[in-house]
Amino acid sequence: MWNPKPQSFLIISLLCMSALSTWTAASNGGGGKPLLAAVTKDASTSLYTAPLKDGRPLVLDLSSPAISLPCDAKKGKGTVTTTLSANATDGKNPLFPVSFPAVATCAAAVVGVAGLAPSGRSSFPAQVARTQKVANKMALCLPSDGKTTSGDSVGVAIFGGGPLFFIPPDRGDFTAMLAGAARLHGFHGSPGYFVFATGIAVEQKQAVGGPLAVGLSSTIPYTALRPDVYGPLVKAWDQAASGPSFPWMQRVAAVAPFERCYNSTKLAVSLSRLGYGVPQIDVALEGGASFLVVGGNSMVQVDADTACLGFVRSSKGGQAPAAIIGGFQLENRLLVIDEDKQQLGFTTFLNAIGLSCSNFNFTHAA
Ligand SMILES: *[C@@H]1O[C@H](CO)[C@@H](O)[C@H](O)[C@H]1NC(C)=O
Ligand SMILES: *[C@@H]1O[C@H](CO)[C@@H](O)[C@H](O)[C@H]1NC(C)=O
Ligand SMILES: *[C@@H]1O[C@H](CO)[C@@H](O)[C@H](O)[C@H]1NC(C)=O
Repeated sequence: MWNPKPQSFLIISLLCMSALSTWTAASNGGGGKPLLAAVTKDASTSLYTAPLKDGRPLVLDLSSPAISLPCDAKKGKGTVTTTLSANATDGKNPLFPVSFPAVATCAAAVVGVAGLAPSGRSSFPAQVARTQKVANKMALCLPSDGKTTSGDSVGVAIFGGGPLFFIPPDRGDFTAMLAGAARLHGFHGSPGYFVFATGIAVEQKQAVGGPLAVGLSSTIPYTALRPDVYGPLVKAWDQAASGPSFPWMQRVAAVAPFERCYNSTKLAVSLSRLGYGVPQIDVALEGGASFLVVGGNSMVQVDADTACLGFVRSSKGGQAPAAIIGGFQLENRLLVIDEDKQQLGFTTFLNAIGLSCSNFNFTHAA
């Protein structure tokens, strides 16, 4: 893992900032169009992919700062130049296909990766920004598998900034309807996006105090909590779940990797657009915003009769981040990651307002 000294980090940050402002200036003058990708969740791996390489999928990885492709024995190892493709978009529909050159590293893997982590030049969004003359900003709406929440497993990503409209488009630009935002931070040189939390509450009662470093991951299926955070959170969850507000919560045998599972036949009486009626988990972020996790983002339907709290105990202690928010907790809300502003923005859980990440109109504009 790359662990820069503070001074060199500052210099690199300044270099990146000046490079970014050059691109932003270019985007104002050059009038490039953002690029659109359909995002699919793979049922067996829980990975999210987009068909960016000749129609073949690349894994979207918020923790990788580069593009990597499976090695081609003939071309050899190292850095390769490749052609990627997507559709330009006005935020409502695909407009026209675009192909562009990209620099990738070759990896001994069967599937390529579109790294979305912060990077000056090598990440997928940075390369889109440079070649399309658009902002280094992405809007990411990860789909669910359609089992617990609505949606047909096709989400949407727009690289280069908004707007982003769902069907029907008269609801407006969702990149401008954020429920909250928080400043992005580095974390000990780890690649990826991190924010700071001031605490985590269950049903408005603080369970864990801050400050807590919270990362985002699109390659772990469920939020992983450091053991010293997981313990108190589950204790607070149990207290709330056994209280008078949740008479439908009946514990049943645990189903790995989860520890708190419930009879979902009983839970069904509480089902609403928010998902099952279970204690609300509230990650209070630096700056005052709250990342709310309601039933639709917390309860995993493991079989027809059982739904489990989709948080897991991470094996990492000490210097690890307090929490890594995983795919299931990111699904069906729009994330807006703005590298220029160093800001993570997020909408409310879309199912709560009768939408999902599958409500983008992928029909070509007439
Ligand atoms: C562009 O959009 C059309 C219509 O949704 C789709 O069929 C096509 O695969 C897209 N092209 C790329 C390169 O993603
Ligand atoms: C779950 O609840 C239903 C309805 O009350 C009941 O019939 C069933 O036996 C329960 N299952 C378990 C495993 O407790
Ligand atoms: C999707 O976009 C196409 C092209 O603009 C339009 O004809 C169609 O009505 C849209 N579909 C919905 C459901 O809005």
